[in-house]
Amino acid sequence: EKQGYDHFMLKEIHEQPESLKRLLEDNLKDGKIDLTASGLAENWLDNYDKIHIVACGTAYHSGALAKYLLEDKLRIPVEVEVASEYRYRNPIVNDRTLMIVVSQSGETADTLAALRLARSKGASVLALTNSRDSSIARESDMLIYLKAGPEIAVASTKAYTNMVAAFYILLIDGMRQRDDISEELVVNYTSDLIKLPEMIRKLSQQSKEQIEIIANKYAQKENIFFIGRNTDYTLALEGALKLKEISYIHAEAYPAGELKHGTLALVEENVPVVALGSRADIFAKLFSNLKEVKARGAETLLITEENQKFEADSVDYLIELPVLNKDFAGLLAIIPLQLLAYYTALNCGEDIDQPRNLAKSVTVE
Ligand code: F6R
Repeated sequence: EKQGYDHFMLKEIHEQPESLKRLLEDNLKDGKIDLTASGLAENWLDNYDKIHIVACGTAYHSGALAKYLLEDKLRIPVEVEVASEYRYRNPIVNDRTLMIVVSQSGETADTLAALRLARSKGASVLALTNSRDSSIARESDMLIYLKAGPEIAVASTKAYTNMVAAFYILLIDGMRQRDDISEELVVNYTSDLIKLPEMIRKLSQQSKEQIEIIANKYAQKENIFFIGRNTDYTLALEGALKLKEISYIHAEAYPAGELKHGTLALVEENVPVVALGSRADIFAKLFSNLKEVKARGAETLLITEENQKFEADSVDYLIELPVLNKDFAGLLAIIPLQLLAYYTALNCGEDIDQPRNLAKSVTVE
């Protein structure tokens, strides 16, 4: 079943070009985004005053990324929250709220409860899920089926990629509806989206050797920090979660600019800091944070675009990403982050597909 791979997680990481292609094919027609099958209205943006995105864990991280992009381009307020919090407060929801729930399994108890709560207050619910017969799919008004295929490893990889890509699809469809966004940008973003599977395929092959070297080092560490800004911060969150859940090494993600408000105290000689710098627009800001940690002795890994210029003496390890628009480049960074988590855990000798204390589908709260 593992088709020659040592673990399902590695198999699923390498399946991503194919699983992503399936999602794109489902939602593209004649080279244009077509969300008719989801049940979304043609001009759905007109129907809502705000968006709530609610999910857990990795699925939540896809929503955290989407908030940055949807607000930036669509100018609609977006709140993103973990379901276990959302369900026990009193969120402001009405019939002009679009509730987006994200769930690989479609059965996560907290996410389902959040969905029911928003629905009872009049929200329209759009589900992004990998299981079409799930409770979440059944109880939603609209659905983007993720089509990642069965995900066996507890740590989510290909489902995450398709969640983010589904948000990219939604973003482009929303951009089409905006008078202040040119058709040219919509066309460019669509063609960048179509390039993603091939870029991911190349990247997972190219980055392997370098990642194995870094993973070998990381396996000896006790704490690893991940930093980024904007969408890269959300990639940092996901990279840290992946690493900690399968390697059991303590990993934390911070918005890069927030470090000096406390956590910098923990950065000392040889502490690894992974800096996500896929966004060309704010690279300089991220890099100045990287220099701050380097000055305190941190061992730095920079993940950035291959044509990015920077002072090489602050960077101990470098992983290069192919060049893509700043909003979509982030998804490329997930490939080295997933592989880094995998090979670090492999070096630690942990049970990669079945980490201790965790279940694939969390159907109790
Ligand atoms: C982490 C992971 C979990 C899930 C979370 C939500 O790798 O897999 O954080 O993302 O339990 O699960 P779903 O998406 O099934 O609702």
